[in-house]
Amino acid sequence: MALVSAKKTISPGGTINGVVELPGDKSISHRYAIIAALAEGRSEILNYSSAADCRSTLSCLRRLGLEIDSTPERVRIWGKGLDGLQAPRRSLDAENSGTTTRLLAGVLSGQSFSSTLTGDASLRRRPMRRVMEPLRKMGAEITAQEGDCAPLEIRGGNLHAIDYSMPIRSAQVKSAILLAGLYADGVTTVHESVRTRDHTELALREFGATIESLKTSVRIHPRPKLLARQLIVPGDLSSAVFFIGAALVLPESSLMLHNVGLNPTRARVLDFLISIGAAIHLASVQLRDGELIGDVSVRHAPLSGGAISGAQTAEMIDELPMLAALGPFTEHGIEIHDAQELRVKESDRITTLAEGLRQMGARVEEFPDGLRVEGRSAGKLRGAKVTPQGDHRIAMALAIAALGAQGNSVIRDAGCVGVSFPEFFSILERLRGKDS
Ligand code: S3P
Repeated sequence: MALVSAKKTISPGGTINGVVELPGDKSISHRYAIIAALAEGRSEILNYSSAADCRSTLSCLRRLGLEIDSTPERVRIWGKGLDGLQAPRRSLDAENSGTTTRLLAGVLSGQSFSSTLTGDASLRRRPMRRVMEPLRKMGAEITAQEGDCAPLEIRGGNLHAIDYSMPIRSAQVKSAILLAGLYADGVTTVHESVRTRDHTELALREFGATIESLKTSVRIHPRPKLLARQLIVPGDLSSAVFFIGAALVLPESSLMLHNVGLNPTRARVLDFLISIGAAIHLASVQLRDGELIGDVSVRHAPLSGGAISGAQTAEMIDELPMLAALGPFTEHGIEIHDAQELRVKESDRITTLAEGLRQMGARVEEFPDGLRVEGRSAGKLRGAKVTPQGDHRIAMALAIAALGAQGNSVIRDAGCVGVSFPEFFSILERLRGKDS
C-alpha cells in the first residue's frame, strides 16, 4: 500500500489548545459510499473521510463499474441501483481495510457474477470465517485461503433470508449480512449480544430501505428502491479521542472539537472518560442525516483510572489503544478485559501496545483477553523508539503516551496513521503551537 513509512519524533510537553474540525468518520464514509453505489441517481457525500481505508472502498467500487468523482471537499457517486454493478475484470483490492472487505463481501454475495476480494499482508491474515459463515448460509459460494483468510472468491446470487445470531460482536459482520439481505428472498434478521455500531442501519434508512431496529436485533426487508442522497459525514470520534487523550495527558490543555459524531453506539468512550475524571462537555447536540453530532470540549483534569470489560469493550473497541496509553497518567491505571478481538485487528493490538508502552517504561501486564497498564505510581514514562507494527491506532496511541514522557520518542513507520487519519500529526502539532 502506498503509505509513507517515515518515522516521527515526538517531543514531550507543552499544552493542547484550540479548535478542531475533524475529517469525516471512517465507518460512516464506507457505508455512504457503498450504499450510494447501490442507489439510483447521483449521491454527494460531504466531509468524506480522508482515510486510506475509505479510498480503498472507492477504488473497489470503481472496479465494479461505478463512476465516482472525488475531491477533498466531496465525493460524487453515480449509483447504478441494486442490480447495476459490473463484474470486475481484476481482483478488488481492499488494501488494509477490514471494513471494505467485509461489507463488500455482503454486497458481492448478492451479485450473480464472480469476484475476488483481496488486500495487503495484514488484511490477508485477518479472520474472514465470521462473514463467510452467514453469507454461505444465505446461499453465497465463497472460497478463502488457508485459515479462512482473503483472498475471498465470491459467487453470489439467489440469496435466502436468514435469522442469524452472531457468535461474535462485530458491526462489520452485521453490516455484511444486512447488505446481503437487500438481495434476499425475504426478511433477514440479525441478533447481536451487544449492540454494535449501527451506522449501516441508519444509512440504509436514509437511502430509503425498510429496516427495523429492536434492542439487539435488526430486520432488513429485501429489494428496496434506494434513492441517491446528499449527506454530510460527521467528524470521526475515533480520531478525535487521540486529541482528547493528548489534552488529558498535558496539563493546562483546553480543546474544542466541532461536529463530531456522537452516535450512542460509538460515544461510550466519552462516558468512560468522564467516569474517571475527564472534564468533557457536549454542546449543540443534534441529529443530522440520521446521525447524532455535536461539539465536544475537553479540559485537562486528573484521571483516576479504571477497568473496562464486557459490553464496554465492544462499544469502545477502536478507542481501547488510546485508553490503555492513558494508563500511566492515571492514579490507579487502566485494566481491559474481554477484548480478544484486539488480537485480530490490523496488528495484535494487545501485544503491540504492551510492547510499545513497556519500551517507554510503563509497567504492563498482558492477559489473553486484555492488559493492565499501571498508573502514575509505576513511575514516569521515558522517551523511546517504538514500533507500531504498521497499525495506525497503535501509532497514534503511542504518540499520545510520548507527549507525557521524559525525553523524545520516535514512532517508527509513523506513516501508517494514514490508514485512518492522515492529518493526525499535522493537527497535533498545530494544537501544540508547533510546526509539524
Ligand atoms: C468497524 C467495526 C469494528 C471496528 C472497525 C470499524 C465498522 O470492527 O473495530 O474499526 O466500521 O463496522 P469489528 O466489526 O470487527 O468489531
